Amino acid sequence: MNLAALILAAGLGTRMKSDRAKVLHELGGKPLAAYPVELALSLKAKPVVVVVGRQAETVSALLADRYGDAVRTALQKEQLGTGHAVMAAESALRGFSGTVAILSGDAPLLARETVAALVRQTVRRKSPLGILISTLDDPTGYGRVLRDPSGRVRRVVEQKDASADELAVREANMGVYAVQAKFLFAALKRIGRDNAQGEYYLPDLVRLAAEAGHEVVAVEAPGEETLGVNDRRQLAQLEKILQRRTNERLMAAGVTIRDPETTWIDAGAKIGRDTVIEPFCRIAGESEIGENCAIGMGSVIDGARLADNVEVKPYSVLEDSRVEAGAILGPFAHLRQGAQIGAGCHVGNYVEVKKSALMAGAKANHLSYIGDAVIGARTNVGAGTITCNYDGYDKHRTIVGDDVLIGSDTQLIAPVSVPDRVVLGAGTSLTGKVEVPPGALVVTRPAAVVVPGFRDRLEKRALAAKAEKARAGKAAPKGKRARKK
Ligand code: UD1
Ligand code: CA
Repeated sequence: MNLAALILAAGLGTRMKSDRAKVLHELGGKPLAAYPVELALSLKAKPVVVVVGRQAETVSALLADRYGDAVRTALQKEQLGTGHAVMAAESALRGFSGTVAILSGDAPLLARETVAALVRQTVRRKSPLGILISTLDDPTGYGRVLRDPSGRVRRVVEQKDASADELAVREANMGVYAVQAKFLFAALKRIGRDNAQGEYYLPDLVRLAAEAGHEVVAVEAPGEETLGVNDRRQLAQLEKILQRRTNERLMAAGVTIRDPETTWIDAGAKIGRDTVIEPFCRIAGESEIGENCAIGMGSVIDGARLADNVEVKPYSVLEDSRVEAGAILGPFAHLRQGAQIGAGCHVGNYVEVKKSALMAGAKANHLSYIGDAVIGARTNVGAGTITCNYDGYDKHRTIVGDDVLIGSDTQLIAPVSVPDRVVLGAGTSLTGKVEVPPGALVVTRPAAVVVPGFRDRLEKRALAAKAEKARAGKAAPKGKRARKK
């Protein structure tokens, strides 16, 4: 079967009260526009055309970036209604014959199966048009589906055009259609804008199909699926629903989520079985977490890949990094872009790692900055060690060999390299100018200054000063304070 998809995303999104087009707002870590596009791609629709209008360039660039040539855009210059939006896509669909699935840019919960069923039934019944409907307790704002006495769908009336009787109808149009291309573009020419909003209404297709004697197929959609985002309140509601769905899917697959209410995991994240996630964690983007990991309370994992058996202690932030099996991170560890933590490494409290590799078994347990560096296998980075990677203009690299012992409070002034098995004494400031053979001890600590009896001299001086002050006070005229008043 030939299937094309048309996604309407040109609207102004006025109710979002935003400087950004509605479809650019994010839900579950993805822009709203991504949801219908990915649904269409999963149905193997071709072409997939997105009608853009508000911030057309930004929306088009985002789509090109995410989907390359798999998605085309059509520009609707002026927003004259949903029917007009489809007209704007006519040339993008020229030459296509088959079924066009029309989706909305702002209904991200719609399931692939629901659209597939709509398309299937419309085709099977040889109907030119199928619509998704839902029977709602409160259909306010939706177009109402009107049927004739025999139950055949006759037309859709918009809220603003409806009579009191029509407003009482609870069957609502969900704004998702399966239309035969030939019928679509012929019927569009007959849609006018003589209505309360002066817009070209796409749902007028229903009346045109019925008047031509065709059956309009109506498929009931599961309630939650067709919820749309029109304002920020709905955005938050949908986020909550998505969060619940993602957590339930992961729990069903063997992940322990101690408190699903406070755990935020983006739909694109992958998590292996027997991994335990403590409360208040956020796992964002395309993060991947292996099996049997422990993710401590309050941690944020964004675009990081963790192998199996990794332990992340509370309040760690891991961004765009890789962590190999058995590593232990945190509490309060911070991995930034391009950090690579080898198997069995330890990265402890207040240690920040950026664009650096720690080879297997290396340890940096306390209070360090490791940037633009390679730290060799089994090397121990003492507390407070800093790679001084920035000279105010450029970043420089630090290369540390295997089995090195770096004493506490060491500064590695890059560019610098430290051969295998070297011992750097505590407090060393090492530059690249120093020749260091493997296995050597390097200490740049200044020689200690020892002054015997210093504390006694200090004390004596202090006492003498105090006595002098007291004598001066007595000599002053009496009643000074009282007179001052
Ligand atoms: C539409 C339907 C209504 C249905 C409801 C379901 C019409 C006239 N009404 O109403 O029957 O119950 O959806 O949610 O279609 N858009 C454009 N260009 C435009 C106007 C809109 O691309 O000129 C896009 C919007 O970005 C949005 C979609 O079309 O993604 C729907 O538009 P919207 O204004 O939200 O329609 P509703 O008033 O919700
Ligand atoms: Ca809408």
